[in-house]
Amino acid sequence: MTTAPTSGIDLFADDVLVDPYPAYAELRELGAVVHLPENGVHALTRYDAIRAALADWESFSSTSIAFNPMADEALTGTSLASDPPAHTQLRAALTENLSPRALRGLKGRIETKADALVAELVEKGSFEAIDALARAFPLEVVADLIGFTGHVRDNMLRWGQAAMQVLGPMNQRTAESFPIAGELYAWCSQVRADDLAEGSVGRGIFDAEARGAIPPDTAGHIIHQYLGAGVDTTIAAIGNIVALFARHPEQLALVRENPSLVPAAFNEALRLWAPVHAWGRRATKDVTVDGTVIPAGAKVAILFGAGNHDPRHYDDPDTFLVERNPVDHLSFGYGPHGCAGQGLARLEAHAVIDALARRVERLVLGPETRVPGNITRSIDTLPVLEVIPA
Ligand code: HEM
Repeated sequence: MTTAPTSGIDLFADDVLVDPYPAYAELRELGAVVHLPENGVHALTRYDAIRAALADWESFSSTSIAFNPMADEALTGTSLASDPPAHTQLRAALTENLSPRALRGLKGRIETKADALVAELVEKGSFEAIDALARAFPLEVVADLIGFTGHVRDNMLRWGQAAMQVLGPMNQRTAESFPIAGELYAWCSQVRADDLAEGSVGRGIFDAEARGAIPPDTAGHIIHQYLGAGVDTTIAAIGNIVALFARHPEQLALVRENPSLVPAAFNEALRLWAPVHAWGRRATKDVTVDGTVIPAGAKVAILFGAGNHDPRHYDDPDTFLVERNPVDHLSFGYGPHGCAGQGLARLEAHAVIDALARRVERLVLGPETRVPGNITRSIDTLPVLEVIPA
């Protein structure tokens, strides 16, 4: 057994955040575990090591998922930041309202919305895809799901972005985002059933609290987790879909010819460009990974995107191939904390891919821009200069 190899890479440097894939490749070649003194973490870089760690909550605790202690403290008691057995009960309350049964009623509405929005954009002929589609669509879906009205709808984007940003190390991005994440937290702490639209899933969570089906004072926290975990990530994923299909019209053609490829195409988009860059764990004891010891108490960084591009697991991992259907990609995590909202994310993304494939033959892009983000990796602006309709 050996200690981990060391690298000078800074996971949260601007250039790494904008394009982490060269750094991921370098780290993966050094080892399945690499010590990064710059960030004070042991990074997990290879597919097998990441998947095994996500399943092994006894060795890799979720009580420290952020890269700064203030955010870890703020998350105490949430599902994301707890271990079994406490996690099991918290998660049950979270997932009940996002189960396939709970979402069944939403499917038709989500598909109709996606189709109408894509039809409108195709008709316009040119548009900025992040604001007009990647942000507009999930914000509307989540607002309707939770039953937001009025000014809260206007804050969802800032709040959702800040909730992810504050999980990074204490850099400028994190410091600037704390007050905004605090607004979200404050709003969720005082929200009442009456503030949410009748018949919404959000109102249902309050009804469950009133019935005693979930512990007192948890409804607001559940809504906080939906917004914190579900907004920025889905926006990133939908922006990525538009960019990938525009860059690879031959892959869009495959989906157009065979619409049953829609779920496979989303899996491949998630595998190729993971919306979540790095996520934390804490080693509860000395843990040996691939012959390397991670010492007890060490902060661990899970690099989902590095695992998704591991050539030990996927052939030709840097190529976008919709027929690959990588159902085992790591972008939704894995194991006890595997994404509780993936059913909703899939409904949204499948509806967008389906509408694009039916209505668009080709999209001509202008240059995209990216702004570095600590945790979510997303495109900031994506001009579609021309639409060649189907
Ligand atoms: C493409 C979009 C999404 C991506 C890439 C994504 C990614 C992830 C990842 C990587 C985790 C695992 C965290 C861990 O291992 O500690 C996670 C957990 C979670 N996600 Fe998502 N997510 C997405 C959409 C959503 C949506 C739409 C919601 C809710 C409305 C949501 C709610 C959650 C919750 C509540 C957890 C915590 C589950 C637990 O602690 O047991 N996510 N997500």
